[in-house]
Amino acid sequence: LRDKYLAAIADASDEASLENLRVQAVGKKGEISLKMRELGKMTPEERQTAGPKLNALKDEINSALSAKKEALGDAALNERLRAEWLDVTLPGRPKRVGSIHPVSQVMEEVTAIFADMGFAVAEGPQVETDWYNFDALNIPGHHPARAEMDTFYMHRAEGDNRPPHVLRTHTSPVQIRSMQDQGAPIRVIAPGRVYRADYDQTHTPMFHQIEGLAIDRDISMANLKWVLEEFFTAYFGTKVKTRFRASHFPFTEPSAEVDIQCSWEGGTLKVGEGDGWLEVLGSGMVHPKVLEAAKVDPAEWQGFAFGMGIDRIAMLKYGIPDLRAFFDSDLRWLRHYGFAA
Ligand code: PHE
Repeated sequence: LRDKYLAAIADASDEASLENLRVQAVGKKGEISLKMRELGKMTPEERQTAGPKLNALKDEINSALSAKKEALGDAALNERLRAEWLDVTLPGRPKRVGSIHPVSQVMEEVTAIFADMGFAVAEGPQVETDWYNFDALNIPGHHPARAEMDTFYMHRAEGDNRPPHVLRTHTSPVQIRSMQDQGAPIRVIAPGRVYRADYDQTHTPMFHQIEGLAIDRDISMANLKWVLEEFFTAYFGTKVKTRFRASHFPFTEPSAEVDIQCSWEGGTLKVGEGDGWLEVLGSGMVHPKVLEAAKVDPAEWQGFAFGMGIDRIAMLKYGIPDLRAFFDSDLRWLRHYGFAA
């Protein structure tokens, strides 16, 4: 009996078969337990020799069982350690973090600079009525500016009585909306998306503008020039010369296009140096008819407005030659310019 169980215990390959052996040998109805029960039928003399022997056997089997159990447990643990081995010296996998798109970054930055000069932020819809986009801005139906703007018109089903809508071609309709909402005096900027059917290295069908509007009792072109020079100096971090060129917009009188000083050195555009000029915005004194359209009395109020291309000044700041790259969502490009991790 002893040899049989000791051999079987030594051979047991897992904890389940070991438990079976324990039940067979020393469990309640185990072979050894049954033998111990028979002790009662023996004579005292027989019991005196058989009893201690059986007890010793039971102890020996029990300790063999627990020794083997421990060994099997160690083996199982070793197997787990082998299988679940982990190389803590491996370099970590880099986590790519998202980042704000350069155009959004510039939009926030520009907004913050004008906010410092007391301009509040205004907004308007991107799908705009042709009245806000054109008529209220002194661009009547026959005006050539409508054709020049490469406007996207919204389709209208037959019987649709709503006024014609367009994708706004500029942020200027927000001038009208904010004057209607707040009246005069007013000082707002309106950043946002605008749309024109145009596509080449410097034009995308969707781009960004920031509109500025300041109306009060004695605002002049001099205030406009000061505000713009303050802005460009803050934005580019260096003194930037501006050049005002007489121009024409139906909604301003007089009108000026504003250029900033720049140079092209080895293919890189640098602002604030050299003898080149780059057009960055249109501006002027708000036309009396525009004030009237927004129910602001031109006999009492006057002021300036400007509209600046955000993508353009983002290209200038980061030395980016092709505007289209902003909208390609090419991660390699974004990383190259440091716009993504
Ligand atoms: N809306 C004009 C454009 O998109 C820019 C502009 C705005 C000009 C305000 C004058 C005053 O070209």
